[in-house]
Amino acid sequence: MIVSSAPGKVYLFGEHAVVYGEPAVPCAIERRATVTVESRDDDRLRVNAKDLSLNGFTVEYSGGTDETPDVNVSESLVRAGVGYIDASIEQARDATDTPDAGFDITVESDIPLGAGLGSSAAVTVATIDAASRELGVELPTDEIADRAYRAELAVQDGEASRADTFCSATGGAVRVEGDDCRAIEAPDLPIVVGFDGGAGDTGKLVAGVRALREKYEFATDTVESVGDIVRRGERVLAEGDVDELGRLMDFNHGLLEALGVSSRSLDNMVWAARDAGALGAKLTGAGGGGCIVALDPTDETKTALRFTPGCEDAFRAELDTEGVRVE
Ligand code: PMV
Repeated sequence: MIVSSAPGKVYLFGEHAVVYGEPAVPCAIERRATVTVESRDDDRLRVNAKDLSLNGFTVEYSGGTDETPDVNVSESLVRAGVGYIDASIEQARDATDTPDAGFDITVESDIPLGAGLGSSAAVTVATIDAASRELGVELPTDEIADRAYRAELAVQDGEASRADTFCSATGGAVRVEGDDCRAIEAPDLPIVVGFDGGAGDTGKLVAGVRALREKYEFATDTVESVGDIVRRGERVLAEGDVDELGRLMDFNHGLLEALGVSSRSLDNMVWAARDAGALGAKLTGAGGGGCIVALDPTDETKTALRFTPGCEDAFRAELDTEGVRVE
């Protein structure tokens, strides 16, 4: 039996613009998905997804899209939960040349689902690591990141950037520009996350930005300006100037808001953080709902968020320098 875990992430800068070739800087946080994998005697998969949905579910099936698992929850929920695990197991089988390997798999996660914190990437990365180790192969981190990206591509109909999976595999702050992914230096960041209890529809939000870019030249300029913020943000991160970092995050949020991907609850949380004295605050991930990320070394922002209408949870999440690991 092998237990592996991998971290979630926040975007310090650059979501959405990264879709159009601009760089983005995600940063791993100390919130993890933990996956336990044990080999079976047959080729079946038994998935016990404790926290993948509000209710959790257990399914037993032999994998592949031709067989619908017989369970008492909605088919779309099963597809969403099992899809990532199924694609990850395919990658582990391929990497270890054991196409018929079967497993009992348990997934636990303290990363809110679909809320901009990279929950699916963390599950995918940890599953590939645990399953390949269980089959006796220790994959290099870069290969886990690449295989996790391919697993996400398969589940998300070809719509995925390398940002989430690379960041979850390596930990720390990373810079992603197209296929070019690398670790970058970052100081300890006083990260606070606010969560509105909801989730945005990434595909719809990405399509919305695409439509704006097609209609308005100034929307294209806005996306490029996000890229300029990211490039400056990288330098500021290297210098360790956390105050300036906060100002740039505020600016980035303004541009995301202009691109139509914020929401009333995200804006409420961003403003609550700013009013509480945060160095900066912005939405993280696709937007539409989900999480904001703020920088505040004091407890003020966390406390203020907890009293903000529409905020369901607020927590401190230090930068996690460790990526995927065996527990
Ligand atoms: O919400 P998340 O963590 O899936 O992030 C989406 C980020 C986007 O830039 C909007 C899309 C992408 O694939 O990069």
